[in-house]
Amino acid sequence: MSLKGKKIIVAVTGSIAAYKTPHFVRLLVKAGAKVKVLLTDAAGQFVSPLSLATVSGNPVLSSVTDGASWNNHVELGLWADAMVIAPCSANTLGKLASGLCDNIICAVYLSARCPVFIAPAMDEDMWKHPSTRRNIETVRSYGNHIIPTEFGELASGLVGEGRMAEPENILSLLSDFFVNKGKLEGLTALVTAGPTYERIDPVRFIGNFSTGKMGISIADELADAGANVTLVLGPTSRRPENPSINVISVESADEMYAAVLEISNQTDIAVLSAAVADYKAETIADNKIKKKTDDLSISLTKTKDILGSLGKIKHPSQTLVGFALETENEVAHAQKKLTEKNADMIALNSLNDTGAGFGHDTNKITLLKRDNTVNSLPLMSKKEAAKAIVDQIIELRNAK
Ligand code: CTP
Repeated sequence: MSLKGKKIIVAVTGSIAAYKTPHFVRLLVKAGAKVKVLLTDAAGQFVSPLSLATVSGNPVLSSVTDGASWNNHVELGLWADAMVIAPCSANTLGKLASGLCDNIICAVYLSARCPVFIAPAMDEDMWKHPSTRRNIETVRSYGNHIIPTEFGELASGLVGEGRMAEPENILSLLSDFFVNKGKLEGLTALVTAGPTYERIDPVRFIGNFSTGKMGISIADELADAGANVTLVLGPTSRRPENPSINVISVESADEMYAAVLEISNQTDIAVLSAAVADYKAETIADNKIKKKTDDLSISLTKTKDILGSLGKIKHPSQTLVGFALETENEVAHAQKKLTEKNADMIALNSLNDTGAGFGHDTNKITLLKRDNTVNSLPLMSKKEAAKAIVDQIIELRNAK
């Protein structure tokens, strides 16, 4: 188990979800982790220090000073392999975002060098408030991992977003993090994601419905596994979570091609997940095309195949992964792409699968490799699918 021997700080703040933390601590201990619990005064109203001390097997700290002694928050921050703030109230989130330090949790957070996971918990309106949105983005930009909230019953009696993730889900996220951590250290990775826009005139373009979600999740997983990631991203408002990722924004297939080719030589792993337009307008009109005739034809010409081009110049030490979006004869078409484009793996999406493809939060992929293995994965979140792809990339790297 990936959490065996891992030293975890569980920091509990004032939210009704605190009642779930003894169970969370118990799961961590069962998974082999060593756990120390920190509690704010407000959290102490929702959950008893005695329960937490009992399940963790360690005294619970709730103040920087305890009686006559001083709890060394710096030492605690250095001791931990990970700090999990669960639940993280709106109040604590605001303090983390602004660097305030008026309790032991903030003090340990500020001095911790380990990865920090934040599991927010609050009512839906608080969760959606612009200041909470801003604080989430701020703490994310510091490199902290935000554990997505879940939808369901809230303490207010309302049903909505803002529930703390279930302890089992936090545990699995944490174990996933440690499974691949450092496995791609020292390697560089290049990911393409999103759509491309091919201009027709100054106000119109040919595009597609890609949101970039899948590729952005892959970039995050590669970075979490230690790779130095560059993400060449088509027009989308989405951004990766990991602040270490270098994002190069492009608009058209030509721009994406140029950005990719410029760095492909120094790349160990390339994952081309962008939905690149296959055709672009032969000429882009200088002025807006006016509505005059009943019919209008636009002459299109092929764009450069980025995946195919990388396949042609691929170095034996490089790992090249492509996607295939198919609507019929899916596996046969994907297999053809695998060999023709000289890729090491193709992740196949079929538009015939419900919940898969553009815009969904879930995806159903089949992974095809050069050893003729065809691995059909069940419907899963795009984050889980990204993890499955990165797991396979690690396997391909180990086999080199
Ligand atoms: N791709 C690319 N450059 C292009 C078109 C596609 O790099 N100009 C990449 C995509 O990022 C994806 C893979 O090629 O990894 C397959 O894309 P897909 O559109 O399914 O296949 P095509 O090669 O375009 O073939 P077809 O449209 O005939 O299915």
